[in-house]
Amino acid sequence: MNSKKYNMWLQYQPITDSKLKEQYQHFFMQLSVLSDGLQVQAAQEELQAAVPQMLDMELTISEDVFTSNIVIGNKNDMTQLLDNYQQSKLTDMNDEAYMIISSEKQLIITGNSDVAVLYGVHHLLRLMQQNEDIRQLSVVEQPKNQFRMLNQWDNFDGSIERGYSGQSIFYQNNQFVEDKTRIKDYARFLSSVGINAISINNVNVWKEETFFITKKYLPEIQEIASIFRSYGVTLYLSINFASPMAIGDLGTADPLDRDVKNWWKQKVKEIYDYIPDFGGFVVKADSENRPGPFTYDRDHADGSNMLAEALEPFQGKVIWRCFVYNHLQDWRDRSTDRARAAYDHFKPLDGRFHENVILQVKNGPMDFQVREPVSPLIGAMPNTNQMIEFQVAQEYTGQQIDLCFLIPQWKEVFAFDTYIKGEGTTVEEIVAGNIHHYKYSGVAAVSNIGDDENWTGNTLAQANLYGYGRLIWDPSLSSEQIAREWIKQTFGTYEIVLNTIEDMLLSSWEIYENYTAPLGVGWMVTPGVHYGPNIDGYEYSKWGTYHFADRDGIGVDRTKETGTGYTEQYQEPHQTVYNDLEQVPDELLLFFHHVPYKYTLKSGKTVIQHIYDTHFQGFKQVEGLIDQWNGLSKHVDIDRFENVKSRLERQLENAKEWRDQINTYFYRKSGIADQHARTIY
Ligand code: GCU
Repeated sequence: MNSKKYNMWLQYQPITDSKLKEQYQHFFMQLSVLSDGLQVQAAQEELQAAVPQMLDMELTISEDVFTSNIVIGNKNDMTQLLDNYQQSKLTDMNDEAYMIISSEKQLIITGNSDVAVLYGVHHLLRLMQQNEDIRQLSVVEQPKNQFRMLNQWDNFDGSIERGYSGQSIFYQNNQFVEDKTRIKDYARFLSSVGINAISINNVNVWKEETFFITKKYLPEIQEIASIFRSYGVTLYLSINFASPMAIGDLGTADPLDRDVKNWWKQKVKEIYDYIPDFGGFVVKADSENRPGPFTYDRDHADGSNMLAEALEPFQGKVIWRCFVYNHLQDWRDRSTDRARAAYDHFKPLDGRFHENVILQVKNGPMDFQVREPVSPLIGAMPNTNQMIEFQVAQEYTGQQIDLCFLIPQWKEVFAFDTYIKGEGTTVEEIVAGNIHHYKYSGVAAVSNIGDDENWTGNTLAQANLYGYGRLIWDPSLSSEQIAREWIKQTFGTYEIVLNTIEDMLLSSWEIYENYTAPLGVGWMVTPGVHYGPNIDGYEYSKWGTYHFADRDGIGVDRTKETGTGYTEQYQEPHQTVYNDLEQVPDELLLFFHHVPYKYTLKSGKTVIQHIYDTHFQGFKQVEGLIDQWNGLSKHVDIDRFENVKSRLERQLENAKEWRDQINTYFYRKSGIADQHARTIY
């Protein structure tokens, strides 16, 4: 496939400005490639694909490094071209660091490893796609986060859990796809934004997927691993904790049982015979009906350490998810609080985990809602490796029908100061491993791609995948910068296109929040599906997700005096701020407190009026998005234009349904009229 929608941000459109084209052409007369590593080859291939398209010229390969206009290679193969200063710069940096230097005569891309060279080449192509001057480059970069991972929630039957972009690119009808072109292209896209790890099957490991770690499927997985390897992406598998029983013939999966331990050791050895650089396991245990150590009265340190021991000789890792809570709660029981669960389960285990275990903690304490506080577990375990988990897939944020650019949300999470070790201990620094000096840490996220031609259903949702990679590589990038980079590469540099789409993206999270669940209360979605409103859908359910609206008020009391005491999981000053009605920020009010509808927010509005106003406004704002997009009809190719247009129209329907159901529900509950007498049903 080769279409604009398929090519995402690697469009490599012809450079039209003749001066710029000349400048670029000068550097691509001859290319020398100094290393023969896999990722350097991939870098060369990328240049050979991009240059003819962008510059209307062939890229010839030359052996003569001194006369070549562009030279790429691993630092170890570059010594003759780099001066001492340049060499020493890279020496102080991590394995993935690269350098780009250009002078009149030559452009050099080098790095501390082969994959670093590939990252450097993508950096250069990114600049060119944005029409930047490349004559006097002196770039030195390294990623801030060590693990930059994606979790595919793909099932072997081809479906994708929480997938909104078609079927899996990996599997169809319980078989591995034969044509692996898309997997290779996916690897290209991922490496272009610095992703270095991927798990390729759903964290819910069903029956047949349990056998992925057997001879039946390992040859195919080996092939996929080698595709990703060429792009510096390490392959992981989600596993079923009960495998020794499901695959083997053991009567238990007890992590302290000797036979179980040996079974896993054998199993891991077998996997490494096929995939010598296998990353390790992603594990969802004792969570939403998945088996785990609790069955045997063991805890999560016991469970993960057993796997860690098996993986340790091969440098494999256990990525153990902390999404553990009681999903069979009685809604009548107001003392159990799902938000508390991860912290309550894991915090007491700090220090008991092996060095190659990394706990993966969702960004919020509930489940990827449009607004949640930051999980208090992040950073709370100084002696246990942690990584944070985001969701690029828009499960609760519009399912890639509605526009919701998530980078601003993730930036807020990164910027959150946990105060774990005093002021300045932000989530960003914690997951980068700078606060507790974790051996391993970083970021993982649920992917949003499928086999739709444009990968992400809504073309504009490509920006979330792009932005995820860019942000976790360099968290100092602003949402604006990331949006602009993505737009220029995806749609070109034309001002009106750039400004319009930038504005649409940057306003979209707030718009989505406006017409959905108010003031941090969350949920209120259609159960199961999680799209569209159903205010009481989860209210009397077992899932622990309630809003407690009655005729007087709404919200979840999580204070220490009268509520669940969840606020105590935070450090000061958050503990006090969240606990105190006077201080809690408006946007999280209903997450922490149950208040009357006439309670006055810091904005000066009452809660009920805020609900009405934001819901009328949110709908209007979606109309605004449609107008903005329509203004681009002449500047965006018809395919992508129509794709986004039709999604926006569906978003408007959705916003209307949310507006009217939320407003009507709260009007009927409270009996309080809208101050502006707008239509409520
Ligand atoms: C959410 C989501 C599930 C998923 C789970 C998880 O609850 O709705 O589909 O399995 O998260 O993260 O494990």
